[in-house]
Amino acid sequence: MPVLQTPPPATAATPAAQRWRPRPATRKLLTVVHVVSSVALVGEVWGLVLLNLTATLTADGTLANSAYRLMGVLVFGGGIPLSLTALASGIALALGSRWGLARHYWVFAKLLLLIGVILAGMLLFTPEGMADATAGGAAPPAGRGWWQVAVVSGQLAMLLTATALSVFKPRRRITWRRPGAAAARS
Ligand code: HEM
Repeated sequence: MPVLQTPPPATAATPAAQRWRPRPATRKLLTVVHVVSSVALVGEVWGLVLLNLTATLTADGTLANSAYRLMGVLVFGGGIPLSLTALASGIALALGSRWGLARHYWVFAKLLLLIGVILAGMLLFTPEGMADATAGGAAPPAGRGWWQVAVVSGQLAMLLTATALSVFKPRRRITWRRPGAAAARS
């Protein structure tokens, strides 16, 4: 796996006074924290996909209920701290290097993907509701189990895309145009 590919050179658009650059040891430490938290998040979401599939496919209501209860542990013990650590360390790495936060498509896309993962977890993923609905071994409401499988599978797809972007780091830069710049030129 390529590690610490050299960022592109600075441009005239980034004055030296605006740049924050961590020391090499600090940057390496940030990178370790970032890689461990973000890749562990991929593993945590993979675990959620497996648990949701188990809960949806099993005929054993007690097993389904236990699986939904375990998901809460994974989310609060893993998903929330790992996603926030990956987000904070990713933003620090981006701002503290010449990659920038909104200068390269791969960094900006990863930011949007991780925000998408967090929002999907907050708004669409409801393991506590599913645990309540299956309490005492009751069958889950039709379709809801598969909806939960779809939500966590979508999160997994976003995280795998982010991992691939991190390794390939496509060089294309974002061109931001100031509003009215085209009119001023003509
Ligand atoms: C969505 C989950 C994410 C995953 C799975 C992920 C994964 C990774 C991995 C594996 C690397 C190491 C690549 C290498 O050194 O070759 C990396 C580096 C990096 N990530 Fe992420 N990342 C994620 C989110 C983010 C976010 C949200 C940002 C910024 C907003 C970000 C910014 C960066 C930057 C700037 C580097 C390059 C560090 C350097 O080489 O100086 N990442 N990421």
